[in-house]
Amino acid sequence: MKYIFHLGRIPSLSVAELQKMLRKLEVKYSVKFISKEMLTLDIEREINFKDLIKQLGGTKKISQVIDVHSNLEEVFQNILFLLDKLTGKKNIGYSFYFTEQHDNKEMRKIFDEIRKRFIDIKKFEAGKSSVRLIFPDNETLELNSASIYKNKLTIRGIELNIIMSNKKILLSKTVAVQDVESYSERDYGRPKRDSRIGMIPPKLAQIMINLASIEKGKTIFDPFCGIGTILQEALLNDYRVVGSDANDKQIDNTKENLHWLSEKYDLTYPEYKIFQSDVGNISRKISPNSIDAIVTESTLGPVYKKLPNLKEMKKNFSELEKIYLKFFQAAKLVLRKKANLVVTLPAYKIKECQYMFAPFIDKLEKIGYSVNCPLDEGLITKHTRITSRNSIIYDRLDQKVAREVIIFQNK
Ligand SMILES: C[S@@+](CC[C@H](N)C(=O)[O-])C[C@H]1O[C@@H](n2cnc3c(N)ncnc32)[C@H](O)[C@@H]1O
Repeated sequence: MKYIFHLGRIPSLSVAELQKMLRKLEVKYSVKFISKEMLTLDIEREINFKDLIKQLGGTKKISQVIDVHSNLEEVFQNILFLLDKLTGKKNIGYSFYFTEQHDNKEMRKIFDEIRKRFIDIKKFEAGKSSVRLIFPDNETLELNSASIYKNKLTIRGIELNIIMSNKKILLSKTVAVQDVESYSERDYGRPKRDSRIGMIPPKLAQIMINLASIEKGKTIFDPFCGIGTILQEALLNDYRVVGSDANDKQIDNTKENLHWLSEKYDLTYPEYKIFQSDVGNISRKISPNSIDAIVTESTLGPVYKKLPNLKEMKKNFSELEKIYLKFFQAAKLVLRKKANLVVTLPAYKIKECQYMFAPFIDKLEKIGYSVNCPLDEGLITKHTRITSRNSIIYDRLDQKVAREVIIFQNK
């Protein structure tokens, strides 16, 4: 069966996360197609996709390929056939994609044609049953995840994806969609937030947890826990957690946020250990070799509106280097052998796709770690790039300081 994973904003991270997850589930697959927006896999067995998508921060939705057609006529014949099988009130949504760059005018023309055909279907079905059409956004041409989720299209209706490539048209049906509102609630709805410390987005926290590749029930430690975002996502994904931070106030914030989380969600491991400590002293409160993975984001340094000069970048990196050397040495004492340590480091965006990286990675490796490549060779393409030092960049257009996601392994 072929399935399409509709990727989040940073395709390399989405694919890396998915690869780790499928390996853990022991699912065999072959890669059919990768673009900036989609990864198509031929999967050898059924998976519970609704369950899977809850565990993925980097996949927006999953759809099942129904057929490949050579023209729109065929596509809509197939759609009519599919709709006939739906019973009761029919909620129908659709999204439209081009896999290659296309002339905007031509794209718009086909988009309008598709819209017209869906309206015709609604008229055609009107005599037989009640049909509600949910139209995609006029700019992005796709239905957003919130709308698919809210309208329960994967449960009581249908969302169809019409995917045009140069020669053929692929029709797929959405089988699972990310619950974006839940992420947003965990980000904005929790009792404590602190924009000054640079909060990691919950989706990225979940991706990093998955990159650590450990079994459910194992222990994840965040020694710079801040307001507890990584710990919160780890708890929701059925891990045990330990957290520490040098700042007392952040410890209170983490405790309050985790308490809120445990009231709101049914957690498999509702107990957690949170304590105040400088990162250099963590081994005083954690037993040797008891941690299965460290997932963390220390400070990324000052937030800049424009790119800082070289001297400033060097100064920030040198401050961070001190913290990181101390951290990696202390982590050696508590982390199990071969366990992963997933971190983000600041990367200054010099130009499009050109970054100034933290210069101290080799010093961290010398302490007794190696950097693990996040993606298998067959999954590295022009759309899913990794850096020359085997890391992945997470950035936003408007930000001068990007995050560099790196997987270290304790040797
Ligand atoms: C960017 S924040 C972490 C944010 C957190 N990952 C989150 O999203 O909630 C960095 C944290 O590192 C802590 N920190 C900085 N230096 C530290 C040190 N030497 N030891 C322990 N914690 C430290 C700060 O107090 C701050 O809370």
